[in-house]
Amino acid sequence: ATETDDMRAIIAQHLHLEGPLLPILHAFQDAFGHIPAAASPLITEALNISRAELHGVISFYHDFRENPAGRHVLKICRAEACQAVGGNALAESTLRKLGLDWHGTTANGAVTVEPVYCLGLCACGPAVMVDGRVLGRVDTARMDAVLAEAGA
Ligand code: FES
Repeated sequence: ATETDDMRAIIAQHLHLEGPLLPILHAFQDAFGHIPAAASPLITEALNISRAELHGVISFYHDFRENPAGRHVLKICRAEACQAVGGNALAESTLRKLGLDWHGTTANGAVTVEPVYCLGLCACGPAVMVDGRVLGRVDTARMDAVLAEAGA
């Protein structure tokens, strides 16, 4: 089967659901690690929605990405408790250092930076997560070490 056939099959599996869009997007995310650009026209056609609507949903939910992630995914907590102890400054300096916006990936493909809203480590902010491992009290020096280790 071609990739397009695979994509059509993923969509067809969920069309019977009430509100099939999110299940379809999750299925693509699971199968491809992101929502492939080639899937978009198939989804909008099958569900009779506009490209703008689809894009709005993909960018609203932080679980979905439109491009493949880097080898490492760094999530920086942007929720209140971490903000109160310097989470925003940490995020800004990290993004600036890497020359990225949120959801961006370094040119060498090493690291993708994403926002997250609470990692359950509120007492030890600023908190970040690297490939599923949660770290607390991350200052810029610790962040530098994390980035170096990830090869950013
Ligand atoms: Fe950052 Fe909860 S607010 S871990």
